[in-house]
Amino acid sequence: MVYTEFVSAEALVRSIKSTVNKLTISNEERPVGIQIYGRDVVSMVEAAKIVEEAHPDLIDLNFGCPVKKVAGKGAGAGMLRNVPLMLDITREVVRAVKTPVTVKTRLGWDQNNLIIGDLAEKLQDCGIQALTIHGRTRSQMYTGEADWTLIGAVKSNPRIRIPIIGNGDITSPEQAQTVFERYGVDAIMIGRGTFGRRGYSKRFGIGSTAAPLTPLWILIGK
Ligand SMILES: Cc1cc2nc3c(=O)[nH]c(=O)nc-3n(C[C@H](O)[C@H](O)[C@H](O)COP(=O)(O)O)c2cc1C
Repeated sequence: MVYTEFVSAEALVRSIKSTVNKLTISNEERPVGIQIYGRDVVSMVEAAKIVEEAHPDLIDLNFGCPVKKVAGKGAGAGMLRNVPLMLDITREVVRAVKTPVTVKTRLGWDQNNLIIGDLAEKLQDCGIQALTIHGRTRSQMYTGEADWTLIGAVKSNPRIRIPIIGNGDITSPEQAQTVFERYGVDAIMIGRGTFGRRGYSKRFGIGSTAAPLTPLWILIGK
């Protein structure tokens, strides 16, 4: 499965043409998720309704982007510092659309705020259908190594019923196999490992050829 790069909710609501164009899906790309980001309940709900008209297989909410112009303004991973708002947005988007809603986030804002255990339960209670966890904090940006132990802890929490998708530093089928076995995740998401590799899905043994557009991520079920 492939996902689009994140799409700004504000830009969608304002019908910015270059942003609206990002919603175009070709059937060869399916199943496909469209990801949106923003920091306002009303515009995230409106954007989700607009996205739904493009008929993606799921709508993903980005609460993980660490870059300053996104997280610094409270969107993306910035939402890790305002969990009540993150939950409001998630709850209201789930309520507003029929398409399955999923969330992608990080372990927490920084090493002193590793909130993912509790957060995963709260997000599940908002009605999301799956949760992707990138095993880094916002402060780490893309440095250091992804910590899969916390992802595994969420997966083994008996209260968690939704699929947990692990993400971070997977670049080979062998590594994928290892994290499936060691951490029990339901799927993995691959980001940087896909860049410039159009045959990647074949290498990982996914049934279809690579999507016509270079995918940002591919999810692999067990
Ligand atoms: C250039 C670049 C663009 C990215 N864009 C997005 C994005 O739009 N949405 C998102 O959720 N993650 C985005 N990511 C993060 C990746 O999806 C992934 O979470 C992160 O790179 C860790 O996984 P990896 O080690 O497999 O790359 C981006 C990463 C990079 C390097």
